[in-house]
Amino acid sequence: MQNYTHDIPTKVYFGQGQIKHLAPSLAVYGRSVLLVYGGGSIKRTGLYGQIMTILAGEGFRVTELSGVEPNPRIGTVARGVALCREHDVDVILAVGGGSAIDCAKAVAAGRYYEGDDLWEMVLTGGKPEKALPLMDILTISATGSEFDGLGVISNPETKEKFGAFFTYPAVSICDPTYTFTLPPFQTASGSADIMSHICEDYFSRTEDSDLADGICEAVLRSVMKNCPLALAEPENYSARANLMADATIACSGIPRYGKEHSGWPCHAMEHELSAYYDVTHGAGLAILTPRWMRCILAKDPAFTWRFVRFARNVMGLSGEDETALAQAGIDALEAYFRSTGLPMTLSELGIGEEHFREMAVHADLRGRLSGSCVPLDTEDVIGIFRACL
Ligand code: NZQ
Ligand code: ZN
Repeated sequence: MQNYTHDIPTKVYFGQGQIKHLAPSLAVYGRSVLLVYGGGSIKRTGLYGQIMTILAGEGFRVTELSGVEPNPRIGTVARGVALCREHDVDVILAVGGGSAIDCAKAVAAGRYYEGDDLWEMVLTGGKPEKALPLMDILTISATGSEFDGLGVISNPETKEKFGAFFTYPAVSICDPTYTFTLPPFQTASGSADIMSHICEDYFSRTEDSDLADGICEAVLRSVMKNCPLALAEPENYSARANLMADATIACSGIPRYGKEHSGWPCHAMEHELSAYYDVTHGAGLAILTPRWMRCILAKDPAFTWRFVRFARNVMGLSGEDETALAQAGIDALEAYFRSTGLPMTLSELGIGEEHFREMAVHADLRGRLSGSCVPLDTEDVIGIFRACL
């Protein structure tokens, strides 16, 4: 097992009715609030009205940054930073999923960024000395942004999408009932994202981190049990609650305790798909993951033991032939994703191979593919993209 440090300063209020903590938690930081949200789902579900009633009743002044895009854009971050400066905002409240929360994190850091170009802040990996305090109310189980410091921001002009460390939420309210209204595609995409976060950590070369591997396997089994339940019964509290708990832990760093970092290669490749084609993050990962697995298994048969463990402990398969078992585990994962209604080819998303080479080169700018658990070169990555067509 390798050394690790863990320091998450986020307080999570999990479960039904936890919105009672909203006003007291915000009040710690001040009275001027920037409310950050997406394209309007919170208005349709009634959550916006509920929040505004609480905030007005408690005497908060609210400025709004609305219309945060899925795959949030740097221009929207800039709009938020300007609002914070203009309205002397004390604290940011993000309501939504990874997109609203990530955008809010970048705004929180951008408020004190001294350079002229906020995109430069993203490119340099963030890690600001100062950021506005941030709180969030989660409405989709997916990214884990409610429990990590990362924000992923897109720049449509340069066709780039990068993650950077901005700030941790101080408080996250995670009420599974807020996810009852998710459309099936978002439920399935979010669940695929959770599974990908786990797979990125699970497929590490470290063999003896029993706790982390056990957590990974438990989360994967939980998602594969509860996502189909949530799709069949959108208001099944137990299913939604398990998915939310799974999401929060999956991107927290806990599933890689003591493990060599894998490089998160599927995320590096998916961010290219989102940057070029505005693909929904989790859907892109579901398409890529089984193809990436087949590529690395073929490239490095010495890694078969990890796939055998995945097939047995996650997919519940058995058999003596380890090569066949490893392949069967991957096939089972692909079949599972397909069963949740996700598109499983890039062609279904209207994506062809014209940009694959530049995407493959760009995906490795930070060495996340050449330095991954099974190192991948440009031709490997192009091959994975082609296998997804
Ligand atoms: O925009 P609105 O109208 O709110 O609609 C959203 C959006 O269209 C909708 N939605 C959310 N909650 C809903 C709902 N619709 C009905 N009922 C609800 N309760 O769902 C759509 C997707 O929302 P979004 O926030 O984009 O989803 P997600 O949480 O999957 O976030 C994706 C973004 O997070 C980044 C992704 O790359 C992507 O940009 N990631 C962030 C990470 C992090 N911060 O640690 C790690 C991840 O790997 C990921 O890269
Ligand atoms: Zn992800």
